[in-house]
Amino acid sequence: MQQEKDNQTPQEDANISAEELSNIKKELEVDASGIPVLEDESIESLNQHKIPHYLVDVYNWAYVKPKNIDLLDRPIVYHTILFAQGWKLMRAYLEEFSPTDRVLQVAHVYGNVVRLLAEKVAKNGSLDIIDVVPHQLKRAAIKLKGVEGEENIDMWLQDASEPYHKQYDTIGIYFLLHEVPDPLKKRIIENALKVIDESNGKVVFIDYYNPSFYNPVRQILRFINYTLEPFANAMWNREIKDFITKNKASKYNWKQTTYFGGVYQKVVVSKKSAEELGETEEESAK
Ligand SMILES: C[S@@+](CC[C@H](N)C(=O)[O-])C[C@H]1O[C@@H](n2cnc3c(N)ncnc32)[C@H](O)[C@@H]1O
Repeated sequence: MQQEKDNQTPQEDANISAEELSNIKKELEVDASGIPVLEDESIESLNQHKIPHYLVDVYNWAYVKPKNIDLLDRPIVYHTILFAQGWKLMRAYLEEFSPTDRVLQVAHVYGNVVRLLAEKVAKNGSLDIIDVVPHQLKRAAIKLKGVEGEENIDMWLQDASEPYHKQYDTIGIYFLLHEVPDPLKKRIIENALKVIDESNGKVVFIDYYNPSFYNPVRQILRFINYTLEPFANAMWNREIKDFITKNKASKYNWKQTTYFGGVYQKVVVSKKSAEELGETEEESAK
């Protein structure tokens, strides 16, 4: 039910009057970069802007309130919450992108990740960025000002669980899955897999995994998951491929690398070749 509500646009919501709609428009201000800036932080207003309920209910303080976003979007915050593993993870992520790639970055990331990605691919390839919170896109736009190949960067407001309409060489999903409810995890993974290039396309996930039993960080994260990140535990209990059906997952290669005693993972997903698909079919026929 909640998902249906998330998918409604203001125009589709029969409960919103013309007067209310005109108020929403007044609340939106378009800045010089053409990106709408959300001025009114009230929950009611946020709902009408199609910001998913879980973001408002769980992550309002971290990802929705413009003042907090400005405060938290700093390299020091990024590195602290990742137990100083941020550089390693960022390197592991960036090495998966080639300079000529057509790239989709699904959701803005605090710190330098988006800037470094743009520096790598914007000049000779292209970079699209989507996020569901207007102020997050504004932050991305600020970071990307002056980067070489700026003209090859595009960004728009979109819920990552809604279908993507372009083909890409590489799609990056950096610490997003653990923050969304499980049904959305499934849709985000499937959406990305649908639009990667047939021959050499890939999807790159960086996210939490399952810390080894003796890792001291395990208890800290368990507490954080319990108090702040209710959708993150699922990452401990399931592989990323297990969020989609076995049948779909079997058509792809899933290459996993873990970091920091299992706290984090990188999973690179690519389509199986015709030969590999034949072998998979043979195995499941046995
Ligand atoms: C990708 S996660 C990154 C978390 C990471 N801890 C960091 O340091 O940035 C946070 C971003 O995801 C965005 N986001 C959350 N749910 C989304 C959705 N369904 N569609 C698009 N963007 C989403 C938020 O607006 C926020 O900008």
